[in-house]
Amino acid sequence: MGSGIAQVAAAAGFETRLREISSELAAQARARIERSLAVGVEKKKVTPADRDAALGRLSFGTDLAAVATCDLIIEAVVEDLSAKSALWVALDAQAPAHTIFATNTSSLTVTTMAAGSGRPDRMIGLHFFNPVPVMALVEVVRTIMTSEDTIQRATDFVHRLGKHPIAARDTSGFVVNRLLVPYMLDAIRAVEQDVASVEDIDTGMRLGAGHPMGPLTLLDFVGLDTTLRIAEIMFTEYRETRFAPPPLLRQMVTAGLYGRKSGRGFYDYSVDPPRVVPLR
Ligand code: 3HC
Repeated sequence: MGSGIAQVAAAAGFETRLREISSELAAQARARIERSLAVGVEKKKVTPADRDAALGRLSFGTDLAAVATCDLIIEAVVEDLSAKSALWVALDAQAPAHTIFATNTSSLTVTTMAAGSGRPDRMIGLHFFNPVPVMALVEVVRTIMTSEDTIQRATDFVHRLGKHPIAARDTSGFVVNRLLVPYMLDAIRAVEQDVASVEDIDTGMRLGAGHPMGPLTLLDFVGLDTTLRIAEIMFTEYRETRFAPPPLLRQMVTAGLYGRKSGRGFYDYSVDPPRVVPLR
């Protein structure tokens, strides 16, 4: 998601620095952005001149000091509270006082990060959706400590990206994942209970409810490993069974069936079009 966020920021006219933990990952991020901008040009959503200008505003590297001097820092690291919190502590030591810290967390509470960040009034959640260049929404998540000035600046930034902000309070999953995650988990339960085939569950929600993708295709798209992690965090937070990861989700993640990113989840992506692989 980090490369998607960097892409839309650069495309909107911001000088953007993308920091990765290794030069290989930084090179992969650059390649991903170049591919996505090329698709944008192909689909006539981006002009070749705008593509070149966006790439010209982007720099890639592994040096934390290079991002520390930005006016706004958006963190999209792995969904692990200690990794995120450690990063904010390191950045607070280097960043100017006016810099806003924004986390793209999908299920961890922003408050916990804010409390240890050294600048709780300038910490906010900016939650983007996949694929970032296409999805119009950003959840702007305030804690009880976020200042009005920070909320205003972060909301203005979202508008300048050409995205639509919604304001949410800091509760695990915010608005969208609070509703979307139980829905995706229920689709897995429907597979477990043999309610219908994987294809028919997906077709049902596409044609019967007008969703762009069925829930099992969406799970493969988001990543089963990512969804398991989010569900575990939300279940720990709420102790409500609707957030409890179903056994089949755990089994698939243990087996390395993460979805598109690993080549196989509910569907096999080594063939075109992807087809369902029977699980048992
Ligand atoms: N740059 C710019 N525009 C692009 C683009 C790119 N790289 N790629 C595609 N587009 C544009 C297309 O031109 C098209 O625009 P149009 O509607 O004006 O013609 C639009 O985006 C859709 O693209 P496509 O026609 O190529 O693709 P599909 O119609 O097959 O849609 C999809 C693909 C947008 C992924 C759609 O299937 C969808 O919306 N799926 C659901 C995605 C979703 O729910 N995401 C949220 C996941 S949850 C999450 O992220 C939260 C996290 O915390 C887990």
